[in-house]
Amino acid sequence: MSEPIRHPRNPSWWKRSAEPAAYVPLAGRTSADVIVVGGGIVGLTTGLLLKEAGMRVTLLEANRVGEGTTGYSSAKLTSLHRLSYASIEDRSGREAARVYAEANEWALARIAGFAEELGIDCQFQRRAALTFTRDADRTHEIDAEVEAGRRAGLAVEKVVDSDLPFPIAAGIRLDRQASFHPLRYCLGLAKALDGAGCHVHEGSQVEEVEGEDERVLVRTRDGAECEAPHVVLACGIPFLDRGGFFARVHPSRSYCVAMSGADVPPESMSINIGEPTLSIRPIPRAEGEPLLLVTGADHKTGQAEDHEEPWELLETFAQQEFGAREVVARWSSQDYMSVDGLPLIGRMRPSSQSIHVATGFGKWGLTLGTAAARILADGLTGATNPWAETFDAGRSQLSGGLGEAIGEGMNDAKRFVGDRIRQLSGPEPEELAPGAGAICRHEGDAVAAYRDEEGRLHLLSPTCTHLGCRVVWNSAETSWDCPCHGSRFSVSGEVLNGPAVTPLESL
Ligand SMILES: Cc1cc2nc3c(=O)[nH]c(=O)nc-3n(C[C@H](O)[C@H](O)[C@H](O)COP(=O)(O)OP(=O)(O)OC[C@H]3O[C@@H](n4cnc5c(N)ncnc54)[C@H](O)[C@@H]3O)c2cc1C
Ligand code: FES
Repeated sequence: MSEPIRHPRNPSWWKRSAEPAAYVPLAGRTSADVIVVGGGIVGLTTGLLLKEAGMRVTLLEANRVGEGTTGYSSAKLTSLHRLSYASIEDRSGREAARVYAEANEWALARIAGFAEELGIDCQFQRRAALTFTRDADRTHEIDAEVEAGRRAGLAVEKVVDSDLPFPIAAGIRLDRQASFHPLRYCLGLAKALDGAGCHVHEGSQVEEVEGEDERVLVRTRDGAECEAPHVVLACGIPFLDRGGFFARVHPSRSYCVAMSGADVPPESMSINIGEPTLSIRPIPRAEGEPLLLVTGADHKTGQAEDHEEPWELLETFAQQEFGAREVVARWSSQDYMSVDGLPLIGRMRPSSQSIHVATGFGKWGLTLGTAAARILADGLTGATNPWAETFDAGRSQLSGGLGEAIGEGMNDAKRFVGDRIRQLSGPEPEELAPGAGAICRHEGDAVAAYRDEEGRLHLLSPTCTHLGCRVVWNSAETSWDCPCHGSRFSVSGEVLNGPAVTPLESL
């Protein structure tokens, strides 16, 4: 059997401060009422809601539960999502904005409920959320968002002061939001899900899903199989090449630094409206002062000039503005952004009876993903869901425009890598220092070359197995990232993030 668990190069603070559980990989051939692929907040919550409805659930997680984007997030639970309500109103109408607010508020209460009912020690703490600008020329955007937020049903208020250590020009404040420890929360959900006819399996990467109409057969990388009437793909971007999701959402990476020594760690959770994104919150610790967590400096996956620079930017901001001194943990992660700012939830395509998806949370998937779980669970138990239509995965089928959208994504990425490919004159793989990776020339061809710390060279094809773009080196995560639709591969070629399902070819 292949090595099931991958160890991250830059473990998040959440990973460092949680006791991992261990669930055995799927083996042999089994059956269930519903198979859930992915053990992040979406998959685990869906599984638990279905279990509560009396269904037999098998959850298959490629790596460890909670250690995908959920356990590498900034873990704010809020209905205030930077500037979102005004733009949702513009694009999708007032009712969509109202539904968006209602779904997030429900999710926040549901998370608080699970944490309490299941006794999960996940540092759930109520806090105010704040969206702010330091730029007097942008206060009209704050005004518009306050009005749209109120129309959507949120008790938002405009403020000109905050507990941040610098002046703001204006802000939107929403009280009684929350922060938590996302990995401990996921581990608590997994514990509640496993047992009594339901199963959680780690190290179980799903590679194939056969069938779409009445029953599905899911096969893992190790050849184990599970059969069920329904499968839920709660794995970030759906890895099946059906439904064209890779052209309907784009992956965006964000960076996080947790630092100690800040003079005045704020009590609130805040986020700016400028560029780069700067999202701020305190992290309570069992012993010692709270840490300061700063998140942001986003870029499209595979499209950064320098993958270390975002961390440096966040660190400098934390030092200059908060007096933070020491980096305790730093990590990065990616989430999927939809075109209209609403998630895509429901049947993978209108004709799919058996395959259900949830993606496109736009970096607000802790609450939106919990709401997605309710939509999916209601759909599978035959209950009517009030938000399903607004977030329906089929709403933005790119009728006739799919090819165009794919082409656009690829052209965008090709522009990014074009110059680098043209300029490619080396290095030769032999020239790489330990720990370095680069696209190199090798016997007349381009190769993705990495020299590990022990001096061994790892040579892979640089051609992404999804649609053939050329991967780029991510020195921060020691991975090969595709600039077209965000697939990521380890230095030995394994898929880290879809939509690719096939490893990079070893040379
Ligand atoms: C840096 C950052 C900060 C964020 N901060 C916030 C925040 O403060 N508040 C907020 O609401 N949202 C935040 N988000 C967004 C939020 O974290 C995500 O939207 C949410 O975690 C998505 O949950 P998920 O369950 O869909 O994905 P994940 O947590 O990634 O879970 C998917 C799981 O599927 C598994 N998987 C993938 N492929 C397969 C396969 N083939 N077989 C089996 N398993 C598979 C993966 O290993 C993974 O564990 C943030 C995102 C980022 C990137
Ligand atoms: S992810 Fe689509 S070509 Fe690489």
